[in-house]
Amino acid sequence: MRVRAALQRATPGRYEIREIDLDEPKEHEVLVRYVASGICHSDVHYLTGEHVGIVPMCGGHEGAGVVEALGPGVSGLAVGDHVIASFIPFCGRCRYCAAGRSNLCDLGAKLQLGPQLDGTYRMHDEGQPVNQFLLISTFSPWSVVPEQSLVKVPKDVPLETVCLLGCGVGTGLGSALNAAAVRPGHHVIVMGVGGVGVNAVQGAAMAGAATVVAVDPIPFKREMALRLGATHAYPDIAEATEFVRSITNGQGADSAILTMDGPTGDDVAAAFDAISKGGTVVVTGMASHHTPPGIPINLLMLAGMEKRIQGCLFGMCSPAVDILRQIDLYRAGRLKLDELVTRRYPLDDINLAVTDLLEGRNLRGVIMHEH
Ligand SMILES: NC(=O)c1ccc[n+]([C@@H]2O[C@H](COP(=O)([O-])OP(=O)(O)OC[C@H]3O[C@@H](n4cnc5c(N)ncnc54)[C@H](O)[C@@H]3O)[C@@H](O)[C@H]2O)c1
Ligand SMILES: [Zn+2]
Ligand SMILES: [Zn+2]
Repeated sequence: MRVRAALQRATPGRYEIREIDLDEPKEHEVLVRYVASGICHSDVHYLTGEHVGIVPMCGGHEGAGVVEALGPGVSGLAVGDHVIASFIPFCGRCRYCAAGRSNLCDLGAKLQLGPQLDGTYRMHDEGQPVNQFLLISTFSPWSVVPEQSLVKVPKDVPLETVCLLGCGVGTGLGSALNAAAVRPGHHVIVMGVGGVGVNAVQGAAMAGAATVVAVDPIPFKREMALRLGATHAYPDIAEATEFVRSITNGQGADSAILTMDGPTGDDVAAAFDAISKGGTVVVTGMASHHTPPGIPINLLMLAGMEKRIQGCLFGMCSPAVDILRQIDLYRAGRLKLDELVTRRYPLDDINLAVTDLLEGRNLRGVIMHEH
């Protein structure tokens, strides 16, 4: 079929809306009609060249839609089902999936290379193969994706909102709940409260943190964080650290979660200084490919104060379990999702959505597909 999709064709680059060919689903693949897709900073890292992918590439990885056709061998899904596309596929049987750590599924090795899991392509632009970002390409109203990337969800929740569960929400929530293991009474700092970080704020508040300090240079982000569970907000980490020390007898925070875009070694070191003995720094924000290696921390303090630096991918979530839990929390009014969407855009305005993200105008922008 012919579809109009947003392609990145150069690095650095902008999206171009191109009419491309989409093949039928092959074995264990599904044709999805996406209703909506959030736009995450990870998409934009590729456009700016901070991350380097293989172009041409059809972007987007935070989508929700409806199953329209099944390839041979698909189980557990039917035409008409509502689905959220997980940006990490999960096989259910590798050692990580079996251990409840599907975010580290071995299929992750096939991500970002471009073709589908069998090594062939479903999208073509004038005969040339088009890579599918994270296998799912949600910046197209139609896509063919692995069954392992889909979570079936109830039909009573709005797809134009729960699409955010495909990446940003679970990543942020899990950064607090799983990676930082926030407990009642903790003092937590969240550095960078955009689409991911604001959900770390929600997660820390949900876990019963006594103090949730949002750090972001953008006043609008700080205001939103305060509305969504932060108890305090500061424009930079130095002020936040000073404040947390002032209320903890000089000890510092139990955890500092880095959800800003492009964290550097210096940012991790600042977070390391902000935490107490036994505290945890969580690194969720994706560093630029060009950032030099190294974190300038005092290694004596690492051992002597038993501090921990913890990387975090998709909030350490198992999508098939956690996305459904998040839907229950949303239905119960305990997880705010509607409030996270600042603006919705037609696909034709996707570059405006990118600009709004880069200029800090959106907590989350969402692309609405037309059919
Ligand atoms: N680990 C994962 O699984 C995962 C998943 C999704 C996104 N990410 C990454 O998380 C990061 C954030 O994504 P997003 O969609 O929330 O981006 P976003 O643009 O919505 O939010 C980033 C926020 O960080 C703030 N910020 C930038 N520098 C800062 C600093 N020095 N101190 C404090 N705040 C600062 C910005 O003002 C902005 O509000 C990106 O790097 C993205 O690639 C990681
Ligand atoms: Zn993302
Ligand atoms: Zn697996």
